[in-house]
Amino acid sequence: MNNSPSELKMLIDRKQIAATVKKLAEEIRRDYDGLNPLAVGILKGSFVFLADLVRAIEIPMQVDFVKLSSYGSGTRSAGRITVLLDLNCSLEGRHVLVVEDIVDTGLTTSFLCNYLKQKSPASVRLCSLTSKPSRRVVDIKIDYLGLEVPDKFLVGYGLDCAEKYRNLPDICEFQEE
Ligand code: PRP
Repeated sequence: MNNSPSELKMLIDRKQIAATVKKLAEEIRRDYDGLNPLAVGILKGSFVFLADLVRAIEIPMQVDFVKLSSYGSGTRSAGRITVLLDLNCSLEGRHVLVVEDIVDTGLTTSFLCNYLKQKSPASVRLCSLTSKPSRRVVDIKIDYLGLEVPDKFLVGYGLDCAEKYRNLPDICEFQEE
């Protein structure tokens, strides 16, 4: 982004993001062709990645969103996550692809995948653009992973700092001044 504030340090630029999205979309297209998958984005962070990803997948599919309660990663526990906005379609027999911007502790995606599996889908898989493996507290399999990232405060491409910077086209490290 032009005129980036000094608190932002480029980590993954838009070119690298685009190449990563393309690679993930090719894998997903290969695996889901003919299955009419349902991509489920977790609001809000996934919205930019999901928009780019589904346009690159280029097979018939559907898109929906969920929103989960958030207490901030530090204080979140699996038992305290609740669904604020649920899907409004049946998952019975559907191939569901959860789409996430980042897997940090893994609590959000672990909760959601288990929640969706109770709705009799044919399959539930997880695609995440980024992952911070050093922060994991629950074991979660990421079926389609873009990039592993360091344990830094990241913003941009959907990721925020107090709701700022979600619209940055690049992923940057937020450095407190
Ligand atoms: C972020 C991110 C993931 C989650 C990952 O969402 O978008 O959904 O945290 O963290 P975890 O692996 O430790 O559970 P956040 O709760 O900040 O809400 P947002 O998507 O609205 O930004």
